Amino acid sequence: MEIREYIRSFIKYDNPSLPDMEIQGKTWADTRSFIEPEVAKVICLLIRTMDAKKVLEMGTCIGYSGIWMAEALKHTGGKLTTIEYDEILIKEAKQNFKNAGVTDHIELIEGDILKITQKFENGYFDMVVQDSKKSLYPELLEECIRVTRRGGMIITDDTLYRPKGITEKLSVHTHRYNEMVFNDKRLYSTIINVGDGITLSLKI
Ligand SMILES: C[S@@+](CC[C@H](N)C(=O)[O-])C[C@H]1O[C@@H](n2cnc3c(N)ncnc32)[C@H](O)[C@@H]1O
Repeated sequence: MEIREYIRSFIKYDNPSLPDMEIQGKTWADTRSFIEPEVAKVICLLIRTMDAKKVLEMGTCIGYSGIWMAEALKHTGGKLTTIEYDEILIKEAKQNFKNAGVTDHIELIEGDILKITQKFENGYFDMVVQDSKKSLYPELLEECIRVTRRGGMIITDDTLYRPKGITEKLSVHTHRYNEMVFNDKRLYSTIINVGDGITLSLKI
């Protein structure tokens, strides 16, 4: 049995709508992919461990990761702010949040992350989850750092694309992102080999 399957055999879904969304996702092209359940569990554990109340997600898609995080935020009394610019995905995400009963814990902001993040105050968020377009990872790093509070965390998905042999067109950006965070003295970082890799950076 593969390690991924072994981990998954223990995973309990925090919301009953999540397994159906995974089945739906299996028929999609790459642009509509979402985080793996074992990645979601790490993020949710960190939200609860840090008692995070203000979490920002870059890249909502249809709201799969958003529903996981909203369930964790029910425990902390917090709220997820998530940003998406694709109108079809926004409509589906809104419906999925409603069906999952998590609308009290999510604010979906419609528009381009590059413009919207500029409106947030310095250090406003306890956690930022970067899961948008890979080419934006290096470009948005400075904004991620700016809007995260000291002692807060930046979590970035798919950062092991390069060693996993994912196309250079995408992995060039995730690799560049890793180089940037590991060279940044404001951050204390590591990479966890879960899903396609997540980079965790504590803002010190
Ligand atoms: C990998 S998907 C997000 C998956 C989601 N986090 C999940 O795990 O359920 C990336 C999403 O980011 C959105 N996106 C990419 N660039 C964006 C931008 N500049 N502004 C807003 N949304 C963007 C895409 O439309 C896509 O839905």
